[in-house]
Amino acid sequence: MAVSDPIGRQLDGEDAPPLRFVLNGIERAETVPARMSLWELLHDEFGLCGTKLSCSRGVCGSCSVLIDGVPQASCSTFAFSVDGRRVDTIEGLAAAGHPLCEAFAARSAFQCGYCTSGMIVLAKALLDRDPHPARQTVVEWLSSNVCRCTGYAMIVEAVLAAAEAVTDG
Ligand code: FES
Ligand code: FES
Repeated sequence: MAVSDPIGRQLDGEDAPPLRFVLNGIERAETVPARMSLWELLHDEFGLCGTKLSCSRGVCGSCSVLIDGVPQASCSTFAFSVDGRRVDTIEGLAAAGHPLCEAFAARSAFQCGYCTSGMIVLAKALLDRDPHPARQTVVEWLSSNVCRCTGYAMIVEAVLAAAEAVTDG
């Protein structure tokens, strides 16, 4: 399959044009292979191992990151496509002390933990849009990501608790 950048330049077998983007609040510049995924860039080039690869098909959401505040599957996003954009990962949220991280830990809202960073990133996007989400809204919002272990109950509780903490803070 031919690969082209957002303005239609063919990139097969080549490095993409130099990439500049903001990663967890820090400006970065990289030259990346045209076919490199955003997950590979984060994991292999920046050593950010918190974003987990599971299905590799853009289905499960475990590899979710925020691109300009929107949850996206990093496994299915070309690295070059974040040029000029802001990318936030679980490491950035943890470093900022986002209440979601504490709430997930306090409620043990995980078992294997493989989905956890994607769930937190996804929930961050929800709380940014709706700081006081109804329980059903949380349930529906999180349904785009797959958790194979927990049954979601404690994940929903953690998101609701974090919403209270954000409001109180
Ligand atoms: S690993 Fe990316 S969506 Fe499943
Ligand atoms: S805690 Fe194992 S997949 Fe969610």
